[in-house]
Amino acid sequence: MRVVVSTALVSWGLASSLASATPLSSSSSSMGSLSPNARSLLLESMDWMDDYYDSKAGYLYDFSAATALRHETRSSVWYAFGLLARNQGGDAAEAEKIIRNVIHAQFKVPAEQWYADYQKEPEEPYVGTEVYPASIYNSWDPNWRGFVGTTLIMVMEEYAHLISAPTQELVLQSLFNATKGDEYRFGNLDKDKDNLYPAYSNPSIMRAFVSGWTGRRLNESNMTRSGEAYASEIISLFDRAETLSEFNSGTYTGVSLFGLVLWSKYLPADSVMSTAGPRMVKATWESIGQLWHPGMRNMAGPWDRAYGYDMNRYLSLMALWFWTLIGKENSSLISKPQVMSHMADYAWAPLFAVLSSTHRSLIPASVLSGLSSFAGEHTFSASTYYPPFDLVPRNITTWLSGRLTIGAESFDEISVGGPSQSQESFNPAVVQWDTGREISFISLYPTETALQVEVGPGHLNLTYPRGNRSSVFSLMVGTFVEKPTIAGWADLPGLKVDVSGNANLSYSLSFNGEYGGSGSTIRDFELWNFTYTMPEDFSGVPNLVLNLEVQ
Ligand SMILES: *[C@@H]1O[C@H](CO)[C@@H](O)[C@H](O)[C@H]1NC(C)=O
Ligand SMILES: *[C@@H]1O[C@H](CO)[C@@H](O)[C@H](O)[C@H]1NC(C)=O
Ligand SMILES: *[C@@H]1O[C@H](CO)[C@@H](O)[C@H](O)[C@H]1NC(C)=O
Ligand SMILES: *[C@@H]1O[C@H](CO)[C@@H](O)[C@H](O)[C@H]1NC(C)=O
Ligand SMILES: *[C@@H]1O[C@H](CO)[C@@H](O)[C@H](O)[C@H]1NC(C)=O
Ligand SMILES: *[C@@H]1O[C@H](CO)[C@@H](O)[C@H](O)[C@H]1NC(C)=O
Ligand SMILES: *[C@@H]1O[C@H](CO)[C@@H](O)[C@H](O)[C@H]1NC(C)=O
Ligand SMILES: *[C@@H]1O[C@H](CO)[C@@H](O)[C@H](O)[C@H]1NC(C)=O
Ligand SMILES: *[C@@H]1O[C@H](CO)[C@@H](O)[C@H](O)[C@H]1NC(C)=O
Repeated sequence: MRVVVSTALVSWGLASSLASATPLSSSSSSMGSLSPNARSLLLESMDWMDDYYDSKAGYLYDFSAATALRHETRSSVWYAFGLLARNQGGDAAEAEKIIRNVIHAQFKVPAEQWYADYQKEPEEPYVGTEVYPASIYNSWDPNWRGFVGTTLIMVMEEYAHLISAPTQELVLQSLFNATKGDEYRFGNLDKDKDNLYPAYSNPSIMRAFVSGWTGRRLNESNMTRSGEAYASEIISLFDRAETLSEFNSGTYTGVSLFGLVLWSKYLPADSVMSTAGPRMVKATWESIGQLWHPGMRNMAGPWDRAYGYDMNRYLSLMALWFWTLIGKENSSLISKPQVMSHMADYAWAPLFAVLSSTHRSLIPASVLSGLSSFAGEHTFSASTYYPPFDLVPRNITTWLSGRLTIGAESFDEISVGGPSQSQESFNPAVVQWDTGREISFISLYPTETALQVEVGPGHLNLTYPRGNRSSVFSLMVGTFVEKPTIAGWADLPGLKVDVSGNANLSYSLSFNGEYGGSGSTIRDFELWNFTYTMPEDFSGVPNLVLNLEVQ
C-alpha cells in the first residue's frame, strides 16, 4: 500500500494553525460548569483511575490486575483527558506526559496496515514481526485510531490551553497520521480481515468525525471531503428507518452516541455531520426511551452486540450516559462500578461527563422525563439494515411490561452470529424478567443465518426459515441465588414457561460455569443451557414457541 505523506511539519501549515488556535466551535468546559451528575461521574471515575496510574511510566496499569503490571494505551488516554478536565495540582503535566508517550509509540510506517494506529500496550513487541504477527482486533485494533483520535480532538477542543505548543503540534501530527491510516480501512466479509463498512456504526461514526475535523483544522481539503463523504453513507443508512445499523447495544449504542455528539458539537455548520448529528441523536434516544426499562434497569432485547445479559451486573456505556442524565442511583450501576464485569469501559467516564450537557440538549424532553419511571406496558417495533451482512433489513419487536420484557428480531444474513460474526455477543431473541430478587434472562444462542420471530404479550415464536433436521434451539438462561440447582423450566423463580412447536420437546439441560459444568461462562455470566433438537425424522421449518408469564 502506497500513500503520500508530506514529511515537513511546516508544509502542513501546522505552525500557523496553532497561531490561530481557535477551536472549530466555541466550546469550553471546566469542572465548575458540569452538572452535579456529570461532576460525580468525572470525579468518581478519576478517583478510581488514580489508583491505577503509574506516573513513572506515564501510563495506567491495565485494569484487569491480571497482567503482571503491564500498562494499557487506550484507558491511559481517556485518563489523560480526565486529568485535564480535573486540572488540579500536577494533573495537566501528567496528562501531557501520557499524551506524548502514546503518540511517540504510534505506528509510523505508512506501508503497514496498522500505520498510525496506537499500540495496545507499551510492552508489546513490534506488530507484524515473526514473533508478534499482525492479528486484527488482537495484536492491533484498527478501532483504536478512532478511540484515541476522538479523545485527542476533545483535548484540542476543550483543553488546548493546558498543554504546551509543541505537544499541541504533536497531537495534530498524530491526528493527521491517524486519519491517513484510517483511510486504509475497508470492509471484508472474511472474519480475519478488516470489517469497517459504514454500517459498523460505532467506528464508522468516529472515522468520519476524525477525518472531517482534522481536514478542517489542517486545511487538508481531501481529508475534509473524505470525512464528509463517509458520513453521508452513514447518514443515508440511518435515514432509511432512523436507526443505527449496529442497533440496541448497552455498550455500542453508547459509543455511537458519543460519536454523534462529537459530530454535533465540534464541527461547523457546513458539515453534513453537524447537520445530521442532532436528529440522529434524537431518533436514537426515541428508541432507547422505549427500550429502557427504568424498573428493571435494563435496555430490553434484542441486542445486536452485548457484553452481558443484565446491565445491573456488567458495566455498559449506556449506564454512564444514564448516570449523566438521571443520576448514578437511577442508572444500572452499583455504587462501585469498577467491580462490575466489563469495568474497563468505566474509563470512558471523563469524556462522557464533559459531553453531557451538549448530549442532554439533543435529547427530547419527553424522552428524558420518561427515563426514571416505567411508562407501562408497550410494544416497540423498528427496522434496521447492516449491509452487506444483512440480505434484507432486520425487523425488531419488543414487548415490555412491569416485570417481563420480550424482544426479538427477524433476520436473514450471510453468516452466523450477526454482522460481527460473534455468537457470544449477538442476542437476537431475549427475555428478561424480575424474579423478585434479581433480573434474570433467557437468550437464544445464535446458530442459524436466518430467524423469523413473532413477539407479543407473553409470547415469543422462533422459526428458522433456513433450518433443517440438524437445527437446534439453544436458550441461555440465568442462574438463581434462591435456586442454585435447577432441573427444568418449572424451577425458574417467578416465571412460568410453556414451550411448544415442532422441535422435540424433551430438551437437554446443562450448566456453563466458572469452575465446571458442561461449558464455559459467556461474557462472565454463568448460565443454564436449555437445548432443543429436532425430531429424528423431521422435515420442514423448525419452530419453537415460548409462552411466558411472571408469577
Ligand atoms: C487555510 O486555508 C485558508 C484559505 O485558503 C487560509 O486563509 C488559512 O490561512 C489556512 N490556514 C492554515 C492553518 O493553513
Ligand atoms: C507520521 O507519519 C510519518 C510517516 O508518514 C512519520 O514520519 C511521523 O513520525 C509520524 N508522526 C507521528 C506523530 O507519529
Ligand atoms: C487530493 O485528492 C485529489 C483527487 O483524488 C488528488 O489528485 C490530490 O493529489 C489529493 N491531494 C492531496 C494533498 O492529497
Ligand atoms: C433519581 O430519580 C429520582 C426519581 O426520578 C429523582 O428524584 C432523583 O433526583 C434521581 N437521582 C439523581 C441523582 O438524579
Ligand atoms: C423486514 O420487513 C421488511 C418489510 O416488511 C421485509 O421486506 C423484510 O424481508 C423483513 N426482514 C426479514 C428478515 O424478515
Ligand atoms: C409461529 O410462527 C410461524 C411462522 O411465522 C407460524 O407459522 C406459526 O403459526 C406460529 N406459531 C404460533 C403458535 O403462533
Ligand atoms: C442442515 O443445514 C446445514 C446448514 O446448511 C447443513 O450443514 C446440514 O448438512 C443440513 N442437515 C441436514 C440433515 O440436511
Ligand atoms: C448447549 O448445549 C448443547 C447440547 O448439549 C450444546 O451442543 C451446545 O454447544 C451448548 N451451547 C453453549 C453455548 O454452551
Ligand atoms: C426426542 O428426544 C428424546 C431424548 O433425547 C429421544 O429419546 C426421542 O427419541 C426423541 N424423539 C424423536 C421423535 O426424535
